[in-house]
Amino acid sequence: MRVSVIGAGNVGATAADVMAAKSICNEVVLLDIKDGYAEGKALDIMQTSTTRGFDTIVSGTTGDYSKTKDSDVVVITSGMPRKPGMSRSELIGINAKIVQSVTSSILEYSKNPVIVVVSNPMDTMTYLTIKTCGLDKKRIIGMGGALDSSRFKTYISKALKKPANDIHGMVIGGHGDKTMIPLSRFASYNGLPISNFLKSGEIEDVVSSTMVGGATLTKLLGTSAWYAPGAAISFLVESILNDSKRIIPCSVYLDGEYGQSDLCIGVPCIIGKNGVEEILDLKLNDDEKLKFKNSADSVREMNESLGQNL
Ligand code: NAI
Ligand code: 2OP
Repeated sequence: MRVSVIGAGNVGATAADVMAAKSICNEVVLLDIKDGYAEGKALDIMQTSTTRGFDTIVSGTTGDYSKTKDSDVVVITSGMPRKPGMSRSELIGINAKIVQSVTSSILEYSKNPVIVVVSNPMDTMTYLTIKTCGLDKKRIIGMGGALDSSRFKTYISKALKKPANDIHGMVIGGHGDKTMIPLSRFASYNGLPISNFLKSGEIEDVVSSTMVGGATLTKLLGTSAWYAPGAAISFLVESILNDSKRIIPCSVYLDGEYGQSDLCIGVPCIIGKNGVEEILDLKLNDDEKLKFKNSADSVREMNESLGQNL
């Protein structure tokens, strides 16, 4: 199994590192446009193989897509962060061109990969990829909900003072601090609703901490996070490669589900070897439905900035 990761920056290299350390595939190819950068990151990761005990081969290349040939999964993390003075639509224009050129280069060498889109604004970049690349829509998955849910569960575990791996919880909606919807009504401590243990104010605090989860880290680190995003990518890719059929909230193309059409937004999906095997239809209450509609409206508005890139 070969996984290619485009963009060997903080998130791409961390994803490669986690996938190698967990031995979820035989080979990881890192590709970047910065001369020698992907090669350097790959070499550094490879030099941990004997101390961490994995046999996955990690290699790097500067822009040579032939090295990504016959990838089973391709992860797109290449993109530019927003710079001071840059409007959101300018950023979308720049990243849209990067994501589109990367996708067409990938498809020259891999006929039918599953593509995981990470570059921000992720819901919009996933939509762009689906609209322009010609692959089956089920094979394009935006990664955001896996990360936001991992943050949600970590905040719940902190509030409950209980082990994080005993917590279940999901975040749906857009991958943005105003658009994501942490589903506290469905969150549980080993199957028991968290409302059995936390007061409503405490649950509200968990929800608001989750929603600004990315921004909190950007403020602390001076750039966006990479450990949790890299691990969330690996979690998603593992479910594809192993055909595990895990339920993971992902940004996928909706065609009537949740009352929405022609956009990509986070909903719970069963993820397996074909990408999105099934979209789960949660019975949302009126408040959750309204939040989902507002989130969809915001993502749709963002998609309008794609303009001529579509
Ligand atoms: P970074 O700046 O560390 O890495 C980006 C890399 O992409 C750089 O090494 C750059 O040289 C490379 N790159 C740029 N254009 C390229 C091209 N045409 N072909 C190949 N490589 C190219 O950024 P970082 O922190 O790794 O973040 C990457 C992206 O992921 C950003 O858009 C960020 O906002 C997004 N992100 C998304 C998350 C999610 O949950 N969806 C979570 C965290 C980050
Ligand atoms: C994050 O959620 C900024 O998408 C990035 O950390």
